Amino acid sequence: MRQRYFSGIQPTGKLHIGNYLGAIKSWIELQDDYEGIFGIVDYHAITEPYSPKEMPKRIIDTALDYLAAGLDPAKSTLMVQSLVPEHTEMAWILNSITPVSWVERVPTYKEKARKLGVSVNMGLLGYPILMAADIVLYKSAVVPVGEDQLPHLELAREIVRAFNNRYGHTFPEPQAYVGVGARIMSLTEPTKKMSKSLGPRNYIALSDEPAVIRDKISKAVTDIGPGGGEMSPGTKNLFNLMSLFSTKETYQHFMRLYNERKIRYSDMKQKLADDIISALGPIRERRAALSLRPEYVKALLIEGSKDARKIAKQTLLEVKEKMGLLYFHEQLEEAA
Ligand code: TYM
Repeated sequence: MRQRYFSGIQPTGKLHIGNYLGAIKSWIELQDDYEGIFGIVDYHAITEPYSPKEMPKRIIDTALDYLAAGLDPAKSTLMVQSLVPEHTEMAWILNSITPVSWVERVPTYKEKARKLGVSVNMGLLGYPILMAADIVLYKSAVVPVGEDQLPHLELAREIVRAFNNRYGHTFPEPQAYVGVGARIMSLTEPTKKMSKSLGPRNYIALSDEPAVIRDKISKAVTDIGPGGGEMSPGTKNLFNLMSLFSTKETYQHFMRLYNERKIRYSDMKQKLADDIISALGPIRERRAALSLRPEYVKALLIEGSKDARKIAKQTLLEVKEKMGLLYFHEQLEEAA
């Protein structure tokens, strides 16, 4: 039997190459050996302001990117978190064993709390607990994520240990599986990670048109030329992208020019843009074809959520039994 794991992405619209290199690429690598459950985690996304009218489209957009990037629905399960209510039920159970001090020290929460002050909501505090619930419901032993999610994974491991200690061994301790592009930086503010929240110029979407990719790369921040000191964050990011999208020879060629202080960033950017465009070409084409079949994508999500729910229900039954919370279960099932 293939080992199972869960990983998720917030439906913030179209996915970028950071999501792809940090997470989705690993999902695709693992899907032959593991039974992957890929969540579109809408209950995580509602912890920040959003437009209710746009949410259904964002769910479909995320699913289109998953499928276009190479997730194979014959091997893996695609699901929507809010269609499997066991996720929030499990999160409540984990809330009851997690000290507040553990969640208050999570870096993403601390940053949000600093920004939002007293208006920071409970969902943002409980965010990593819901994430731990996502993971344990499927008894995931590995969780493919980008580097920014490591503190959340560490917390999930602590919560698993606390649960196993109190109620008996139930869950494996989930290990992070960090992708090749663990931390892709913003094109315009390269000391920050690439993220949609910094605006469209800072990221390359998987579905960006070639001309848009070329334009964004050509305007990416570098430095005025190698000055002998440490490589600037922008230049480092472009070399990192080159190591991921171009051939070894291309990477070594531009690195040599950099070291000899002969590099012309315009040439490097042109080559990098060419290589990103050709790598993303097949994804863009598959996405365009799939976007003409929204009903097919919707049906996959519904079926996938039903399949995921079967597993989630089973785990929750086991959990409730261990916790002395399984009252009248059989009678209720018969009555339903
Ligand atoms: P989210 O939606 O912010 O990002 C989804 C995945 O993309 C990775 N990622 C990056 N990797 C490299 N460079 C970047 N610039 C970059 N930006 C994003 C993230 O590390 C992540 O793997 N909390 C999660 C979603 C989640 C989840 C889960 C993940 C909810 N439940 C259970 C795993 C397991 C999040 O907000 O990811």
